[in-house]
Amino acid sequence: MKKLIAVFLLAVMPAFSFAAEHGLELDKVDIDLTDKAAMQDGARTFANYCMGCHSAKFQRYERVADDLGIPHELMLEKLVFTGAKIGDHMQIGMKPSDAKTWFGAAPPDLTLVARVRGTDWLYTYLRSFYEDPSRPYGVNNKVFPNVGMPNVLVGLQGNQVVGCKQVQTVVDGKKQFDPLTGSPLTHEACDQLTITPNSGTLTAEQFDEKVKNLVTFLAYSANPVKLESQRIGTYVLLYLAFFFVFAYLLKREYWKDVH
Ligand code: HEC
Repeated sequence: MKKLIAVFLLAVMPAFSFAAEHGLELDKVDIDLTDKAAMQDGARTFANYCMGCHSAKFQRYERVADDLGIPHELMLEKLVFTGAKIGDHMQIGMKPSDAKTWFGAAPPDLTLVARVRGTDWLYTYLRSFYEDPSRPYGVNNKVFPNVGMPNVLVGLQGNQVVGCKQVQTVVDGKKQFDPLTGSPLTHEACDQLTITPNSGTLTAEQFDEKVKNLVTFLAYSANPVKLESQRIGTYVLLYLAFFFVFAYLLKREYWKDVH
């Protein structure tokens, strides 16, 4: 039992350690790995906005196309910009050493990042870039302070700034209200992100949806067999339940003579 608890703790630790690292509440995202339209949109965003710097080298274009229901020709036409063939791994041309000179850090491969960081972290990270003139690319990130990555989605999201604003007070996860008037109790908080209105091509809701789709794609990429495992698992359990009936009848038959 002790061993089991240790294994469990080790398994859930990465999710907690990153969240605890910055003492920051992560925004929750509800990922649906059966939503192919979301994953297709995410794959498109990934190819267009991320593969300039990040590879997904443990994944093949062909596998993604087949899993997500994208015809091979369409995949090659719309999602492959490196001249790669359909059976190739999702590699990029940028050398890690060059990247390190340009950004101060090499952009890591993203095939498995959803397993390492967790989907909530990714969802929050990609929506938490803000303007910071003291940084080389003029942006910083709330969950990844002093990040080397530029804000590549700024055209969609618009400019985001960090500053003080009135927010509703929350104690132990419960929103607070004035007991007399019933109106929300507020206080000034100074680490709040605000998007400059109309500075991006998407509304805040559309942008959140875009990022959610991208994170759904990354979650799929980190575990492409998950759905298949669940499907097979269901059959295995059904089979065992079915087999149990016959095993039981057989046992009864054998033991009849023993008693
Ligand atoms: C211009 C190059 C560039 C582009 C384009 C880019 N990134 Fe990055 N990214 C980086 C660099 C550099 C880092 C490393 C930052 C560091 O360690 O300070 C990074 C780090 C990350 C990390 C953190 C990884 C980790 O676990 O430490 C994630 C997640 C990430 N990028 C996701 C994305 C996604 C998703 C996109 C597409 C929307 C994208 N990036 C586009 C350069 C880029």
